[in-house]
Amino acid sequence: MGKGCFITFEGIDGAGKSTQLAWVKELLVNRGIAVTVTREPGGTSLGERLREILLHSEDAVLPETEALLMFAARREHIDKVITPALARGEVVLCDRFTDATIAYQGGGSGVSIAKLESLERWVQGDLQPDLTLYFDLPVEVAKERINDPRRQDRFERETDGFFERVRFAYLARARAQPQRIRVIDANVRPAVINKKLEDIISSICL
Ligand code: TYD
Repeated sequence: MGKGCFITFEGIDGAGKSTQLAWVKELLVNRGIAVTVTREPGGTSLGERLREILLHSEDAVLPETEALLMFAARREHIDKVITPALARGEVVLCDRFTDATIAYQGGGSGVSIAKLESLERWVQGDLQPDLTLYFDLPVEVAKERINDPRRQDRFERETDGFFERVRFAYLARARAQPQRIRVIDANVRPAVINKKLEDIISSICL
């Protein structure tokens, strides 16, 4: 059994990361590789209940509370889903992880990055994704893709300024951790993105 491979998918809402995650899953399954697909917030029964609160609560929620709930869900998720799958030698494809908390609660809502990083150390210990695919898209293009207000969650209803800050925080984090985080231009044809993903994943996890 291998040590597994932990891959996370990130981007502002509308960047297309979930579609690309499904494509990567197919790629790996077709090569006979065992894959666990999961998401944050969520991935466990408690985590999915926290997701419902975080994405659809009618009450105003403090950004710090949001961050703490994200990390509470993450602690369960790591222990019950991610670590066991990696121990079985599987590839774990996770739709969002800690970079999203840094970008949304930190960059978007102004929670101290130092506090978030201390929670990161506490909750994750040594665990970091082997690879993070960050799908980068200008805010105005992403907004056009999620413009049906009836289907929007609390975060998707945020202002353009909020998403500009989220994008900036993702890009800053990618610059700080270039070995782990690959910036993918999401403003090109899907076939071009697919080819790039295949090259990156082959070099890291196959
Ligand atoms: P998303 O992953 O975009 O799911 P869907 O494709 O179903 O809309 O939605 C999750 C939302 O949660 C997204 O707007 C970002 C937000 N989020 C945070 O603010 N912080 C976090 O730590 C995580 C994991 C997600």
